[in-house]
Amino acid sequence: MTVKIIGTGRGIPENIVSNDDLAKIMDTSDEWIHSRTGIHNRHMVKEEGTTALAVTASKNAMKKAGISPEEIDLIIVGTVSGDMCFPSTACQVQAAIGAVNAVAYDISAGCSGFIFALNAAYGYIMSGMAKCALIIGAETLSKMVDWNDRSTCVLFGDGAGAAIVKGVESEGGVLAVAQHSDGAGGDVLTGKNRNVRNPLIDNKEEVFYLEMEGQEVFKFAVKMVPKCIQEVLEKAGKTLDEVDLFVLHQANCRIIESVSKRLKVPMEKFPMNIENFGNTSAASIPILLDELNESGKIKEGDTIVFSGFGAGLTWGATLVQW
Ligand code: UT7
Repeated sequence: MTVKIIGTGRGIPENIVSNDDLAKIMDTSDEWIHSRTGIHNRHMVKEEGTTALAVTASKNAMKKAGISPEEIDLIIVGTVSGDMCFPSTACQVQAAIGAVNAVAYDISAGCSGFIFALNAAYGYIMSGMAKCALIIGAETLSKMVDWNDRSTCVLFGDGAGAAIVKGVESEGGVLAVAQHSDGAGGDVLTGKNRNVRNPLIDNKEEVFYLEMEGQEVFKFAVKMVPKCIQEVLEKAGKTLDEVDLFVLHQANCRIIESVSKRLKVPMEKFPMNIENFGNTSAASIPILLDELNESGKIKEGDTIVFSGFGAGLTWGATLVQW
C-alpha cells in the first residue's frame, strides 16, 4: 500500500491588497516589498475567518478527489490563526462539511503546518489508524500582525489549501518524510497572544502581535531547507536530478532562490505564487499545490518535494511520486 494525494483545493479571500494599497497607509513602497520578497499582492479577509477558508478549500479538494465527507476518517489542520482557541479549526471544519466519521484536530507548527499534517496523515494511514485523510493549511495572519510594524505586516496574506490523502494499492505516492523542531531557536518568530490573566496578578490588557527577526528566520531557512530536502531524498534513495518540482513554503522569493542555488537546481523547478498571495504560512504549500494541479503542471508519475519551515522552529519535507 502507498499513500497518495488524490485531490486538492483552495479557499482564498476575495479582497486583494496590493503593495501600493499598503503604501497609502504606511511608510513603504511596491519597490521595497517586491524587490525584497517577490510579493505584489496578498488576499485578506473581511468577514470570513480561518474556518470559512478551510471549509471552502476542503469542499474543493473533496470534489476534485470525488469522495464523500463520510469517507474521511481523519482531519488535520495546520494553523496558528484559528478563529477560536477551541474547539479546533479541524473540529469546526468537520461539522461544516459533515465528516461524521473523522477524528479531527489541529497542529501548531507555524508555516510547516501543512507538511507536518501531511506527514502525520501518512503515518496514520501506513499504520492502519486511518484510511482517508483531509489535511489543511489555513491562516488569517492579517489579524495577528502588528499593522504598525512595516517590517512584518507587509509580508503576510490570508488563505487556505487542502488535500485529500488516501491509502491506495499502487506504486509511488509518499516515498519518504522528514521533519524537525528546534524549540530553543523559537524566539525569532513568535505570536505571544495568550498572556496570563487571572485574579493573582494585576491584569494589564497587553496586546501581543506576531513578531519576527526576519534576518534570523531567513538564515535558518536557507540553511535547513536544503539539508532537509537532501535528507528526504537520501531516505528514498533518490537524487536531486530525479525531482521534477520543488514545492516550497512561499515566504520570500529570495529564500527560494537561495535554496535553488545551494542545491544547484535551476529555478524552473521551483514554482512560485508568492507574488499574488504573500506569505500565507501553513496555507502556502497547499495553495500552490492546488494551482499547479489545476493548471496541469503536475503530471502523473512526477517526483515532487514539498518543504516547509517556520515558527517553532520547525521544518520538514515530504517526497511524493504523483
Ligand atoms: O514563513 C516564515 C517566516 N518568515 C520568513 O521567512 C521571513 C524571512 N525574512 C525575510 O524575508 C527578510 O528578512 C525580510 C523581507 C523580512 C526583510 O528583508 P531584509 O533585507 O532582511 O531587510 P531588513 O529587515 O534588514 O530592513 C532593511 C531596511 C531597514 O531600514 P534601515 O534600517 O536599513 O534604514 C528597515 O527599516 O528596510 C526597512 N524596512 C522597510 N522599508 C520599506 C523594513 N520594512 C520595510 C517596509 N518598507 N515594509
